[in-house]
Amino acid sequence: MNIYSFNNIDTISDFALNLWKKIAGDSIRDHGFFAVALSGGSTPLNFYRKLSVALGNSPIWSSTHIFLADERFVPSDHKDSNLKSIRGNLISHLKIPDENIHALACENHTIESFQKEYEEDIKDLIKAPEGELPSFDLIVLGIGEDGHTASLFPEEIRLPSTNRAVITSFPTNAAYKRISLSMELINSANNIIFIVTGSKKAKVVREILEGKEKSLPAALVNPVHGIVYYLLDKDAARELEGTGINIL
Ligand code: 6PG
Repeated sequence: MNIYSFNNIDTISDFALNLWKKIAGDSIRDHGFFAVALSGGSTPLNFYRKLSVALGNSPIWSSTHIFLADERFVPSDHKDSNLKSIRGNLISHLKIPDENIHALACENHTIESFQKEYEEDIKDLIKAPEGELPSFDLIVLGIGEDGHTASLFPEEIRLPSTNRAVITSFPTNAAYKRISLSMELINSANNIIFIVTGSKKAKVVREILEGKEKSLPAALVNPVHGIVYYLLDKDAARELEGTGINIL
């Protein structure tokens, strides 16, 4: 496991920025584009802003396709829309063609048509052999205090897996219906970066990394052929001391 502990979110973002550059460069060289799915929430916003400043004018954006790891079923100008947040902190500062932004506005959709179209959009770009799910080059994830990741909450993780790329999610302890990349799709990714900060997350981070708590969605992230990076600040990492978990 690639577990790193940093002083603060700023140093996490610097590290994530270098990973982004490497993964984007490798992906574009390998198959001509870089497909990335981004999470909402508050933790990655510092990274997104840093990315927009450091690489805003870079030529990589014409070959970069940005998807969302999950979205709340709210209008795209709603204060809790992940698209609105990611647009404001990242996308609006980039020289990126509109067609490279893969996000849906829920206005003209039911949650089911929203899910279906989003799934088709992913499969149109990222080709996969028959019966297999597409592999994102990179998925950026957060972790909630209850162990959820993207919009995969503990109660849904008990449902049978579907082999769908995108699922609908109806959390009982969080606001809004949502769509989310499925666990199966997340586990098909080539690279996953978790960004987690704050002492409130320390307990769940330990439970996930100790690997004993299999009912936590974030603990089930274990890509078949990809690499996972856990980028933690020292507060989120503080319960790892003495567990024998190797921190880089
Ligand atoms: C969302 C996210 C979600 C998030 C965690 C952590 O849209 O809400 O994708 O999975 O990453 O809830 O959120 P914070 O970064 O705000 O703690």
